[in-house]
Amino acid sequence: MEAYLQDFLNMLLRWLHVIAAIAWIGESIYFVMLDNSLRPPRAAEDQRKGIFGEMWAVHGGGFYHNQKYATSPDKLPDDLHWSFWKAYTTWLSGFALFITLYLANPEFYLIDPAANWAWAANMTGWQANLVALLFLLGGWVIYNELCKRLSPNMERDGLLSVAVAVMMVLVAYLSTQIFAGRAAFLLTGAVMATAMSANVFFWIIPGQRRMVKAMKAGETPDPLDGKRGKQRSVHNTYFTLPVVLLMLSNHYSFMYSHEHAWLIMTLFIFAGALIRQFFVLMHAGSIKPAYPVAGVVLILLNVWIAAPSGGNAPAAGNDAAAMEAADTGPDLEQVHAIMDARCVQCHAQTPEHPGFTAAPAGVVLESSQQLLSQIAQIKQVVASGYMPLGNMTQMTDEEREAIAAWQAP
Ligand code: HEC
Repeated sequence: MEAYLQDFLNMLLRWLHVIAAIAWIGESIYFVMLDNSLRPPRAAEDQRKGIFGEMWAVHGGGFYHNQKYATSPDKLPDDLHWSFWKAYTTWLSGFALFITLYLANPEFYLIDPAANWAWAANMTGWQANLVALLFLLGGWVIYNELCKRLSPNMERDGLLSVAVAVMMVLVAYLSTQIFAGRAAFLLTGAVMATAMSANVFFWIIPGQRRMVKAMKAGETPDPLDGKRGKQRSVHNTYFTLPVVLLMLSNHYSFMYSHEHAWLIMTLFIFAGALIRQFFVLMHAGSIKPAYPVAGVVLILLNVWIAAPSGGNAPAAGNDAAAMEAADTGPDLEQVHAIMDARCVQCHAQTPEHPGFTAAPAGVVLESSQQLLSQIAQIKQVVASGYMPLGNMTQMTDEEREAIAAWQAP
């Protein structure tokens, strides 16, 4: 019952999280588009009023005329539209989801018993939780310091971008060395998503509040507040595509259970940023196909790196015995015996494992038909070491080799 309720809560949080994220990212993409689409105002009167740019749009059966003021408008209305709850709701629901799934089950989801670094492989549950939280916090602190130190007056944007890019490569690398692959991808996405929300919370919104306050008091707002808000929202724009991918990566174990998962992750992050750059420039009126082409090249590189033969299968290769096993392969009965011993505690219609009330990921491994219809998936997750989760059921290397050699009849 408890596991069921936890599952239900998880589902509701995920629903909220996705809705909030769609609303936030949608609005954020919209405003970057709007800002980049502004053209000098046509009406002389608008120019006199201090309008810096305008955009005409048709949507939902009506016509819209957006105008941006270069400086402060003569009078600010009280019912200004602010954008922050969507960002906060996305982060809060995401963090709650992270607690109910990862922090509630660190042995399953955070710890990688086969991690390269022994201390990471040997973490206890609460140590892993603490390290995960420090990882998130550390990501924000370092990113924020980079922005403050390298660009105190919002200059040297190029240098700052390079520094943030290098930081993300390091985050991707460290996460995969410390945590289980699935958690590593999620945490790297969460480092970026936390930076995005914290940018809104600590810089963009407070800066805008100061600007509004100054304008209402008839003073000139500090231009640095406006520039900083802009700089941080530009960063957010380049984070969006990679973050969405990393959040979805959960469903694709070929991405994160690979031995070079950090490289796969890094290439995807840069691919997302490059593709975003194309749209940012396009709205400003400049079509630069080189960006999406470069992004697609990185993705194709990943197709090649992540391919099952690209080093992620166990050493069922060169020696004679393994060659022979690969020729004949185990019969279905032997496969059943392995599944019963190592998998069915969790992957049953009604799992015996207390942590599950239904078959995880909907994968049931009881009948012959179920095994045969999921042969490719089973081979992949066993070869990569992703299953059994945390190798809880202590599957042996011989059993993994047998599964690798298993052929569909
Ligand atoms: C301790 C419980 C547990 C054991 C034991 C276990 N699994 Fe899983 N398995 C899970 C969970 C939880 C998921 C869902 C993880 C996710 O969403 O990525 C999962 C997901 C899967 C998936 C779907 C993966 C995907 O990419 O969607 C397959 C296939 C799978 N397991 C096969 C196996 C096989 C084969 C074994 C035995 C060698 C096994 N599992 C042992 C808990 C377990």
